[in-house]
Amino acid sequence: MIKSIISYPYRGHYGDARYRGNCSGFLIKDLLNYYKPKKFLECFAGSGTGFDVARELGYKNSIHLDLNEKFGSFNLLTDKIPFGANLVFSHPPYWDIVKYSGQGNEWGNRKHKDDLSHVVDYNEFISKLNIINKKIFDSISINGRHAILIGDVRKKGKYYSIIKDMDWYGDLESHIIKVQHNTRSSNKRYSNNNFIPIEHEHLLIFKKTRI
Ligand SMILES: C[S@@+](CC[C@H](N)C(=O)[O-])C[C@H]1O[C@@H](n2cnc3c(N)ncnc32)[C@H](O)[C@@H]1O
Repeated sequence: MIKSIISYPYRGHYGDARYRGNCSGFLIKDLLNYYKPKKFLECFAGSGTGFDVARELGYKNSIHLDLNEKFGSFNLLTDKIPFGANLVFSHPPYWDIVKYSGQGNEWGNRKHKDDLSHVVDYNEFISKLNIINKKIFDSISINGRHAILIGDVRKKGKYYSIIKDMDWYGDLESHIIKVQHNTRSSNKRYSNNNFIPIEHEHLLIFKKTRI
């Protein structure tokens, strides 16, 4: 049962635990069991966590999109998102905290120019995220929902609140705090302890009540 604070210490056997920045399959499972969407679409599918959960729950035709060739090299900035999902789950990069494309990263030999995790400038990252969030909103059917999992970021001592800075499309129906487990900050001792380490993410659920 989903409540406004969620915590999944164990991520389950879904997707690939080695893919950095992956999320727990139990979160997606809880969303699907709660909303029971007829058509489920996932953006930023990454290592396939959502794909594995959806197949386990019997979703034969759910759609899972990622720039990673494992999920069709689908570019959310430039490609057209299929219309008509009742629930979209999206899990974008948290700015450039974990880099995805390119040698030594999660996939591919080179950085992809539209990989959000390689955008250096914060404002550019936010505008690209806005473009994708608007496209997701437009692709949802009426009364459908977009559940976005995103974390705020601290860089060189400055706090960046992605959820505050990005545009919101649709009516905010729930703001859920997800406890983060095994974060680098939780294992690290900081010499200057003049800030509070971030150990949570946000799951925002937007409903599309009108076009
Ligand atoms: C936080 S990860 C998603 C992890 C996933 N939920 C999992 O459990 O494995 C973010 C993903 O965004 C993808 N990505 C970055 N820019 C993209 C773009 N323009 N279009 C589609 N996917 C993109 C990356 O390839 C990466 O897999």
